[in-house]
Amino acid sequence: MGNSSKMEAGTFRHEHWSSRLGFILAATGSAVGLGNIWKFPYVTGENGGGAFVLVYLACIALVGLPIMMAEVLIGRRGQRSPIHSMRLVAGQEGAWSGWQIVGWFGVVAGFIILSFYSVIAGWSLAYIFEAASGAFVAADAKTIGAIFGGLLDSPGRLLFWHTVFISMTVFVVAGGVRAGLERAVSILMPTFFLLMLALVGYAAIATDTFGQGVAFLFSPDFSKLSGETVLVAMGQAFFSLSLGMGVMLAYGSYLPQSVSIGRSVFAICVADTSVALIAGLAIFPLVFTYGLEPGAGPGLVFQTLPLALGHLGGGVFFGTLFFVLLVVAGWTSSISILEPTVQWVEERFGIRRVTTAVLAGVAAWLLGLLTVFSFNLWSEFKIWDKTLFELLDYLTSNIMLPLGGLLFALFAGWIMAKSSTRQELGADCRGKDSRSFILWRFLVRYVSPVGIGLVMLHSLGLITLTG
Ligand code: TRP
Repeated sequence: MGNSSKMEAGTFRHEHWSSRLGFILAATGSAVGLGNIWKFPYVTGENGGGAFVLVYLACIALVGLPIMMAEVLIGRRGQRSPIHSMRLVAGQEGAWSGWQIVGWFGVVAGFIILSFYSVIAGWSLAYIFEAASGAFVAADAKTIGAIFGGLLDSPGRLLFWHTVFISMTVFVVAGGVRAGLERAVSILMPTFFLLMLALVGYAAIATDTFGQGVAFLFSPDFSKLSGETVLVAMGQAFFSLSLGMGVMLAYGSYLPQSVSIGRSVFAICVADTSVALIAGLAIFPLVFTYGLEPGAGPGLVFQTLPLALGHLGGGVFFGTLFFVLLVVAGWTSSISILEPTVQWVEERFGIRRVTTAVLAGVAAWLLGLLTVFSFNLWSEFKIWDKTLFELLDYLTSNIMLPLGGLLFALFAGWIMAKSSTRQELGADCRGKDSRSFILWRFLVRYVSPVGIGLVMLHSLGLITLTG
C-alpha cells in the first residue's frame, strides 16, 4: 500500500467538534436513525418480542458499549480516517500494518448499507408528501396497505426518492461534517425525541392495547429464541449503534483530547436504546389495536403509524412532521456512513471532499438499484430464500458488522498496549486503574469477542450451544 504524503508528513490537521456535546450529538445523530424507528420494531416483531428485546439489550451493554469505546479511542488516537488510523496505531503499537484491512472492510460494508438505507429513507421522503396530502385521513388498513404496496410496486417512484436522498447525503458530506452536521443535529434530534414521546402518549391514552404492546416488548418468551434470533439481535445492536465499520473511528478522530470517551459513549448508547424502545412502545399498541401482524416486516412502521395518525385530530400535521423528522434522523445517519470513505480519500489523495462525496454517492446510488428492484421487478429473485434487499441487509448487519466489531475489540483489547488504551480512556488515577477501565478491558478482551464468536459460529451451524 502506498503512503499518503499528507499522512506521513505528520502535520495532518483537520477540524474537531466544537465541544463534547458536539461529538455526542453527532454520534447520536449517527446512531439514531431508521435502525431505531423502522428496523427495531419490525425485527422485534418478526422475532417474537420480549426475549429478542432482552438479548438485544444484553448485546448493547456487553458488546456494543465496549466496542463503541474501542472504536472511538482508536480513532482519536489515530486522528485520521479508519483505514489510516488502524494502520498508524498498529504501527505505534509495533503490530502488523495489515490491521488496516478492517478499515477497508468497513468502507465496503458502508457502501452496501448506504445503498439500501437510502432506498428506505426514500420511502420516508415519499411519505412526507403522502401524509401532507391527507392520504391517510380516516383510511382503513386496506387503503394504507395499498398506499404502501403502490409505492413498492413502482420502481420509478422508489428510484426518484432514492436519488433525492442520496443527493441530500452527498450535499452534507461534501460540506464537511462539523458545519453540516452539528447544526442540523442539535435542534432536530431533541424535537424528534419529543414527538416520539408524544406518540407513546397517544398510544397509551387513545388505545386500549397499550398493556398488550408493553407485554409484547418486555415479557420474554424464551421459546421464541433460537441461534438465528440471537444473531439478528446482535446484528441489530451493531446496526443501531453504527458499529463495526469505522463510523465511530471517524467521529472519534474529530474528538478533542479532553473529552471523556467512556461517559460520552454511555450517553450515546442510552439515547439510542431509549429511542428504539420508545419507537416500540409507540408502535406495538397500534399494531394490536388495528389487528395487524407484528411480524409484517419492513412495512410495519409505514403501515401502523399512518393508520393511527389518520384517525387523530391534527393527524395531517403530526404525520407530516413525523416523516420529516424520520428523514432527518435517517439523514444524520447516512452522512456518517459515507464519512469514513470520504475522509480517507481526502487524506490519501488530497482530493476535495466535494468530488469524493459525489463519486461515492453515485456508487452507492448504483448499488441501491438492487434494493429498488428487489421490491418489485425482481421480488421473486431469491438467494438463500432472501430477496436482494434482505440479503444485503443480512450480510452487512449480521455478518460484516459483528466481524468488524470483533476485530476492533481484539485490536483495542489485545494488540494495543494497556497503557495506550488507559491513556485514551483517561482512566489513570495515579497509576491505579479505575474500576470502569478494568471492566471495559475485561469486556473488550473477553466478553465481546467470545460472545460474537459463539453467536456467529452457532448461527453458521458450526457449533451447537443448546439442545
Ligand atoms: N445506526 C443508524 C441507524 O440506526 C444507521 C447507521 C449509521 C449505521 N451508520 C452506520 C449502521 C454504520 C451500521 C454501520 O439507523
